[in-house]
Amino acid sequence: MSYRVSVLQYQPQFLQPDANFQAIKELLLPVKSDLVVLPELALSGYVFCTQDEVAKIAEEIPSGSIFTQFLKLSRQLDLSIVYGFAEKAGDRYFNSCALVNPDGSYYIYRKIHLFYREKLFFSPGEQPFAVHPGKHGVKLGLMICFDWQFPESARSLGLLGAQIICHPSNLVLPWCQEAMKTRSLENRCFSITSNRTGTEINQEQKQYFTGMSQILGTKGEILIRMNDHEAAVYTVEIDPKLALDKAVTKLNSVYGDRRPELYSL
Ligand code: ACM
Repeated sequence: MSYRVSVLQYQPQFLQPDANFQAIKELLLPVKSDLVVLPELALSGYVFCTQDEVAKIAEEIPSGSIFTQFLKLSRQLDLSIVYGFAEKAGDRYFNSCALVNPDGSYYIYRKIHLFYREKLFFSPGEQPFAVHPGKHGVKLGLMICFDWQFPESARSLGLLGAQIICHPSNLVLPWCQEAMKTRSLENRCFSITSNRTGTEINQEQKQYFTGMSQILGTKGEILIRMNDHEAAVYTVEIDPKLALDKAVTKLNSVYGDRRPELYSL
């Protein structure tokens, strides 16, 4: 099966979800694709200094206005969309991403491994990694940014049958894009890492984001890698069935040869 997958990279404006949604929509309107991955916290920016800032832009699911607009856009463009956002649930906030599908179905992942100052403002996700159907039933695994540092994240998604790992990110360290080659290779699945660009300054906090969003094949090969500053959407055609083949040689399989009884986990 031929499946068109896309990665969106841009620089959000801090605490401007409506303007950011419009910018994302303009980038997506000309795109012909089956799946697109957007950055972590794609609507709000990242460098929070107070809980009030988070509270101002966080949304509840399914009543949130941005969420409702993404569901509509997904149906309009016949496109599965994965985007990162700040989620409010009761009196807690999560660094979450949503998968919204053209048929109206949706799934939420709450980031399990919080990075640095995120711990000041968000609660860590408590639900295990999970795989969900995107358009045409392709199995999508959701993880967010710093989850890359823990091989258990991608391994869990791979073992659950993920054909494509969708990885909204706001990367600030220099290692992830290269490390994801290994995550794809060791699990033999595609991965789409969408990163933001630019430098964000809030009070005494300043953060540079590394861009270089990418789509990787099942052997860790780079299908698309962007530069560190462009705002664009790139699309490639893949065959998601390649991710069902876990063979390394005729006698080796990345999952069949595992020896979990000998591992310390
Ligand atoms: C990160 O997890 N946003 C670095």
